[in-house]
Amino acid sequence: MPSTSKSDYTHGMDRDPDIQREWLRLFDRFVLRLIELKPESVLDVGCGRGVLVNQLSQAGILATGIDPKAPGHDPQIIQGDVERLPFGDDDFEWVTLRHVPHHLPDLSAALRECVRVTRKGLLIAEPWFDLTDPLQKISERWDRWWKRQHERAGDVHKACIPVSGIVAALPVGDFDIEAEHYRHVAHITPEAIEKLSKPLLDELPPDNPDRGEYTQIMQQINERGFTYNGTVIVKVTRG
Ligand SMILES: C[S@@+](CC[C@H](N)C(=O)[O-])C[C@H]1O[C@@H](n2cnc3c(N)ncnc32)[C@H](O)[C@@H]1O
Repeated sequence: MPSTSKSDYTHGMDRDPDIQREWLRLFDRFVLRLIELKPESVLDVGCGRGVLVNQLSQAGILATGIDPKAPGHDPQIIQGDVERLPFGDDDFEWVTLRHVPHHLPDLSAALRECVRVTRKGLLIAEPWFDLTDPLQKISERWDRWWKRQHERAGDVHKACIPVSGIVAALPVGDFDIEAEHYRHVAHITPEAIEKLSKPLLDELPPDNPDRGEYTQIMQQINERGFTYNGTVIVKVTRG
């Protein structure tokens, strides 16, 4: 199965209470946008532990999740791969992918499958750094460093995919695209970033250039701070 990870699916982020809190605040925006669509049924691709599936179910929306790392004992949260969705054409009104695209080895193959099983469209979120802000530039530099270490260990963890990358990966078809960039200014302590980075740094060979890169990034973070990423929400409606 592609893109299974050696580490837990959040790469340790959910163990930091500050990061966890900001993460949930960021995701609230996505839930709001989804609820506004008044969906009859939703397939949440890359559902993780099923947080969104549970929220939707509580709101009376028919929700199913799929993830390669699903435990496999919950009929609502199925174990499986986005490239081979075990569903029929048009089975769901909406399909969601929340912070999933940058984990996928072949986004085009994934979106082709997602479009196949949806009647109305896709609601996609990707993390987003506002590079017009110097603090976000530092955070994005660390984000790339962090993901490089996961990729070195065999995970798929790419840099954040911009709207243009998502649109380019859609299959040929008639789609209406709406994108909303949501900047979420939240400061995370340098200590929290160091704690997340340390195990990865320890695994780096002594001559790896990412050791020097880490020193430079942490110097900037200690001097200027670290701000959490925002998100971009892309609504892809079938024509
Ligand atoms: C950052 S987590 C996001 C989890 C969840 N969507 C959320 O909002 O909390 C990325 C998820 O993508 C899943 N994933 C990775 N490769 C996948 C694949 N080939 N098919 C489906 N999901 C995949 C991972 O297992 C992980 O749960």
